[in-house]
Amino acid sequence: MNQPERILVTAALPYANGPIHLGHLAGAYLPADIYVRYQRLKQRRVLFVCGSDEHGVPITITADKEKVSPQTIVDRYHAMNALAFERFGMSFDNYSRTSLPLHHTTAREFFADLHKRGILREKIEQQFYDEKAAMFLPDRYVEGTCPVCSFAEARGDQCERCGSYLNPLELISPKSKITGETPAVRETGHWYFPLGEFQARLESYVRERDARDGWKDNVLNYCKGWFSTGLQDRPVTRDLDWGVKVPLAGYDRKVLYVWFDAVLGYISSAKEWSLRNGTPDLWKEFWQSESTKYVAFIGKDNVVFHCIVFPAMLMAWNDGHPEGNYVLPENVPANEFLNFEGEKFSKSRGWGIDVQDFLDRYPADSLRYYLAVSMPEYRDSDFTWHEFQAKTNNELADILGNFVNRTIAFTERAFGGLVPARGAIGDFDRVILDILASTPERAGEAYDHYRFKDGLLDVMNLARAANKYFNDSEPWKSVKDDPARCATTLSVSLQVVRALAVLMEPVTPFTSEKIWRMLDLPGSVHDQSWDGCASEQMPDGHAIGKPQILVTKIEDSAIEEELRRLPRDEAAPAVPQKPPVSIDDFGKIDLRIGTVITADPVPKSSKLLKLQVDVGSERRQVVAGIAQHYRPEDLVGKSIVVVYNMQPAKLMGQESRGMLLAASDASGKLVILTPEKEIGSGSVVK
Ligand code: 2FM
Ligand code: ZN
Repeated sequence: MNQPERILVTAALPYANGPIHLGHLAGAYLPADIYVRYQRLKQRRVLFVCGSDEHGVPITITADKEKVSPQTIVDRYHAMNALAFERFGMSFDNYSRTSLPLHHTTAREFFADLHKRGILREKIEQQFYDEKAAMFLPDRYVEGTCPVCSFAEARGDQCERCGSYLNPLELISPKSKITGETPAVRETGHWYFPLGEFQARLESYVRERDARDGWKDNVLNYCKGWFSTGLQDRPVTRDLDWGVKVPLAGYDRKVLYVWFDAVLGYISSAKEWSLRNGTPDLWKEFWQSESTKYVAFIGKDNVVFHCIVFPAMLMAWNDGHPEGNYVLPENVPANEFLNFEGEKFSKSRGWGIDVQDFLDRYPADSLRYYLAVSMPEYRDSDFTWHEFQAKTNNELADILGNFVNRTIAFTERAFGGLVPARGAIGDFDRVILDILASTPERAGEAYDHYRFKDGLLDVMNLARAANKYFNDSEPWKSVKDDPARCATTLSVSLQVVRALAVLMEPVTPFTSEKIWRMLDLPGSVHDQSWDGCASEQMPDGHAIGKPQILVTKIEDSAIEEELRRLPRDEAAPAVPQKPPVSIDDFGKIDLRIGTVITADPVPKSSKLLKLQVDVGSERRQVVAGIAQHYRPEDLVGKSIVVVYNMQPAKLMGQESRGMLLAASDASGKLVILTPEKEIGSGSVVK
């Protein structure tokens, strides 16, 4: 696409079912905000919308648990998340919510239009009905025994233990989660979107946009996966009271499937923005114009809905409305996941940190900077408190903060806070001015292509080079023996400070504004020009403000305190992680499945058992220190995992060829690892 007239940017609507965490910020919101702020500095017309996703079964389940209405839940988390986003510096033009009447109308109209044009299909299906509650049960409202692994508390849609996707009718001994009763099976109608019919168009859509705008490999791979299994019809209605009511007679106890309504939230958020600005049709200039570039930022779990379902819905609408065509996403830059101190964020375990708590203790820009440099752009990445401290102290403070502060402090001391007039340009000056001149284009090129880490690195390299320039120029010497040279050094340094304020603005908007104020420049840093910032000099004689601390360093004690706050299992002190190994290192260990044929005590040993193990091709003797945890007779017939290429050893005079794998619990009790299903002896573990 040539340079578009307008850019529409959306970030996934977070569920108003809990507080957002750092993983959400790093996955979708920070990259979207960096992109938008950068595009605004490029002086492009941008609309950036988001909002809370306030429907769906998880919300009604939370409400049931707390014995409050779903509205109470979404009011709570909408307010909480909107505030967290604001404190984090998200520059949305509008942050809406899908419980608004404006959104309900938008979604109902969309559904009614597709229905009227015969695109949607009705299917009559058997479904569980709770007679006591007088309602059909959505999948997640049914629990029972998993037909695959016999887990007793499998959900109707998926078994949490074995991960199998289930049809609730397959559950053994199903129970309604509402009344605990065994549900009846009744027939009911649901509407489906014929996604399969759009497959060919969707494949060319993805191919064409990728060729134009370079889609990320991870996103393309997800799409290919979906295409290769073949797209299926998708239900767009569900049995629930909470949500957008299906606009059809006889469907009054059903709502639109949350995904169908949530993606339309991007449109209703733009409509709300238009109304707030007193120009009710302005949203169409973004949504319904061929010269708009639409970029949808999401986390990887939302790829199918944004690259496949939503574009197909828009195609279906567009087929019937030649005049009011919606723009399809030009790109869907999805990030992978961010973990927290080596593990997944977990609300129930308290593993992670609430965004508001974080921002109570540390400035938003330190968090933004750290998340930007460690963003899971191509693979999952990890938040660690130590790295957060290191990036804040060694980079944000020591590189950016240091250069700004030494320049401003020196100007104050040597020139009374007035920008000195520049003399002849020397070699050192030329080097830094060249780096400065080329940075906006290089970093901008990276940002335009969603390579946020690279773009930020380019800008930070300018700050690194600027510190070197300051050191090499030694203004503390030239101030005495060559005042004109010193004046030039400071004039150039101030020009770089000014430019850094602009170039860092997408990542550290609060710090950039602070630099702008310290320079006492007119207007706001947010309204400056990305392209112009390299050549803009500070006016001679301009009085700058006082130096202030720009970035506060984080003390070791604060980080220790954060680590102490993490939940730990009482009995099990944290086991330190061993040094990292490469996949090649791991590959050197040959693991196989074995079956225990016989098990006997080892004479004179209270700890060892001697096992004969069938490892497929042969039988081996394995001596294991498990006598205090297992009786020999309980082991016979068990499948175990054997380290097949363990060097043979003699234990209490017995040869052992292999080692079995076991885990120890908090009290030191050993539990043997065994495959989750029957798999033949000799199978390779990898
Ligand atoms: O994963 C989520 O948090 C969903 N609520 C995202 C929805 S994005 C779009 F559909 F609005
Ligand atoms: Zn299961």
